[in-house]
Amino acid sequence: MRVLLLNGPNLNLLGEREPEHYGRASWAEIEERLKRRASELGIELDCRQHSSEGGMIDILHAVRHEVDGVILNAGAYTHYGYALRDAIAAIDPPVIEVHLSLPERREEFRHVSVIAPVCVGRIAGFGALSYELALEALVRRGGSEGARNG
Ligand code: DQA
Repeated sequence: MRVLLLNGPNLNLLGEREPEHYGRASWAEIEERLKRRASELGIELDCRQHSSEGGMIDILHAVRHEVDGVILNAGAYTHYGYALRDAIAAIDPPVIEVHLSLPERREEFRHVSVIAPVCVGRIAGFGALSYELALEALVRRGGSEGARNG
C-alpha cells in the first residue's frame, strides 16, 4: 500500500511552534517514528510538506494515480481552503483528515472544517499519535478500493 502524508503550512516548525498545542517533538522525529510504523504495516510512506494551498493541491494532483490513500494535515487551510476541498473531492484515493490538536477545543474559527465532508474520516487531538492512528485506519479500511464510508 502506498500512502502520501501531506502536511500544510507551519507544520514544518513542529517542536518549536506553540508546543502547548503541538508538542515538543520535531517533524523529523515524528517522521522517523511514522516511517518505522509504516514499514511494520507494509505501507510505503511518502511524507511531504507545503506551505501554500496551491502547492498542496499540485501535490495531490501529481500523486492521485500513484497512492492508495492520503493522510492530510491541512493546517489552517482546513478551516477555509475551498480549493483544497475541491482537490480532495476531485481525486480518487481516500483522504483522512488529521490534526495534532483537537480544533473544537480551541478558537471558534477552528471549529469548522471545510474539508471534512470530502474526507473518509478524521483523527484529531492525539498529538503525533494522530498520524499513526491514521496509518492504521487506512490499512484496516483498505485504500482506494475500501468502503468510502469506512
Ligand atoms: C492543526 C490545527 C489547525 O487549526 C492549525 O491551523 C494547524 C495545526 C493541528 O494539527 O492541530 O496548523 O491542523
